[in-house]
Amino acid sequence: MSFTVAIDGPAAAGKGTVSRAVAAHFGLAHLDTGLLYRAVGKRVLLGENPVAAARALRAEDLEADGLRTQDVAQAASKVAVMPEVREAMVDFQRAFARRSGGAVLDGRDIGTVICPEAEAKLFVTASAECRAERRLKELVENGHQASYDSVLADVRERDARDSDRVAAPLRPAADATCIDTSDLTIAQAVGSAIAAVTAART
Ligand code: DC
Repeated sequence: MSFTVAIDGPAAAGKGTVSRAVAAHFGLAHLDTGLLYRAVGKRVLLGENPVAAARALRAEDLEADGLRTQDVAQAASKVAVMPEVREAMVDFQRAFARRSGGAVLDGRDIGTVICPEAEAKLFVTASAECRAERRLKELVENGHQASYDSVLADVRERDARDSDRVAAPLRPAADATCIDTSDLTIAQAVGSAIAAVTAART
């Protein structure tokens, strides 16, 4: 039996942490769909055509090094505006969502466009300042150099591009449970998400 959990939200809101924890708790497979756009963005930075890169994408590309940098994130957000790039990756995401045993997918348009029929939908968000602080910590821990101001500007720029685009803009599905993680610990955010998914399963 398939069971799909759709988790959307802006950059660095804690979606990844919540998604991995929900997947582990319920024994579901997990797909971070941002990696699809990052893999295409990385290929574009290397000179490829975005639509050709999206059509040629293979599962192994999601394991590539260097997908977590700010440059690749910005490139991902830019290719994500293109309807043909998005279209090229729809079937892969839907097939993953419907795999037997169930799946958690996190991204920007999972509950609205990719899996509008998902059994559970969450929208995980936090203030831009809070997300910038978390992203800066993560970058520094991974050995990258960045300042708070540049990371905050980056978060705001991506928010605007992801929310204002015509194709599958970032927004909560009408039936999504919203979780604002600004003042929550990781354990509290994960607990709220697990409670919401449990309620959807029963
Ligand atoms: O979640 P992330 O920061 O890894 O995503 C990188 C970019 O990819 C993000 O700025 C917008 C795009 N994206 C998207 O448009 N749709 C998704 N489902 C996932 C990511």
